[in-house]
Amino acid sequence: MKITVVGTGYVGLVTGTCFAETGNEVTCVDIDVNKVAKLSSGQITIYEPGLEKLFERNLKEDRLHFTTSLEEGIKDAAVIFLALPTPPGADGAADLSFVLNVADQLGKLITDYKVIVDKSTVPVGTAAKVTAAIARNAKVPFDVVSNPEFLREGVAVDDFMKPDRVVIGTESERARKIMGELFAPFVRQGNPVIYMDENSAELTKYAANSFLATKISFMNEIAILCEKLGADVDMVRKGIGSDDRIGKRFLFPGIGYGGSCFPKDVQALVRSAEEVAYDFKILNAVMDVNEDQKLFLLPKIKAYFNGDLKGKHFALWGLAFKPNTDDIREAPALYMIEALLNEGATVTVFDPEAMNNVKQQIGDKITYADHQYTCLDNADALLIATEWSVFRTPDFSKISAALKNKAIFDGRNLFEVSRMKELGYHYESVGRTP
Ligand code: UGA
Repeated sequence: MKITVVGTGYVGLVTGTCFAETGNEVTCVDIDVNKVAKLSSGQITIYEPGLEKLFERNLKEDRLHFTTSLEEGIKDAAVIFLALPTPPGADGAADLSFVLNVADQLGKLITDYKVIVDKSTVPVGTAAKVTAAIARNAKVPFDVVSNPEFLREGVAVDDFMKPDRVVIGTESERARKIMGELFAPFVRQGNPVIYMDENSAELTKYAANSFLATKISFMNEIAILCEKLGADVDMVRKGIGSDDRIGKRFLFPGIGYGGSCFPKDVQALVRSAEEVAYDFKILNAVMDVNEDQKLFLLPKIKAYFNGDLKGKHFALWGLAFKPNTDDIREAPALYMIEALLNEGATVTVFDPEAMNNVKQQIGDKITYADHQYTCLDNADALLIATEWSVFRTPDFSKISAALKNKAIFDGRNLFEVSRMKELGYHYESVGRTP
């Protein structure tokens, strides 16, 4: 099938590349001239494990093309995916101007039947707005489908190739048939393609992310209680997770959820509810808990240093909002850095992938180490903000040789409390009694 993907950000590039990998002819459109030039010449613009190989192969096989021209990009396409940014506006609601602007242009450009698919995370009612924007100028029939994506950064290729489910929101039989054919290769193992109306599909995406964020904030509060009551959150997590109704996944406490999705989507759903005069009480609490959680380690660090961090120097491992990505949007590490600097401390950081992004954002307010161990030189304590695999089994003799104090504050529960005790560390984590 010939398909077009408008927007070559994270979702667009993964979507375009994975559709090409299953034999479709894909053209990706972006207004960013430099990005299109880079991608056309074989340079990938995001870090995502496994993507580069597929990208190179499909470019070479001539199944993946890039252009800045929407008109050229949609020529002969049966399906046009919109993978455009929907950043939060001033009031926290998603800003639809990119999506509606492209919809408006599509109305003027299409010359035969097209299926136009919203891939971006958009509030309920957007498919209707996109339909209206296209219909203003369109002279041919078309259908608008809501097809939210459930990719996780770091495992996006796998998530795309083997989705738990595909949600297709449209009441048009013609569009359902085309979308069903396009996704058939991805659900061969029997995972469901769920057809529904547009509004339900749009809400499904927000409900999924908000539910997952709720799980995390809930566990973060259980972790706080564990510390106060002398229980171990790892045990409680295992104890509840083996009940299928709860599930083992997404029960890990830590220093809060970050990234480009959960914070934005939870906030947008709260705003959507407000627009229809509903106060979404649980989600307001989920956001509150997460705000506090980002600085969960700070009081523990301050207590260890008798309330005064002025002149103290910290090594920080992990900057990305989670492992296997260079994405630092809403990363808890950045909130920790800011708080430490405000307390008069200095910070040296190390992250396997996200250093350049942090350099661009906060520059020389902190120092950057080339290696996880040189990061420790002269530090008063080690702080951990992201659970990269390379941090999981470190050489503790190197850590204790470099640090001024044998103190580790771990926001991701990487080590066994008992082992750290044996090794003689002052070790604090989340929800486990030291
Ligand atoms: C999330 C969803 O998991 C995807 O299904 C969805 O498609 C995507 O948002 C999106 O809307 O585009 P992502 O933001 O890439 O994916 O990352 P996750 O792996 O879900 O992690 C989100 C945050 O939750 C991270 O900060 C992570 O550290 C935190 N987390 C996750 C926890 O604190 N505890 C857990 O048990 C799991």
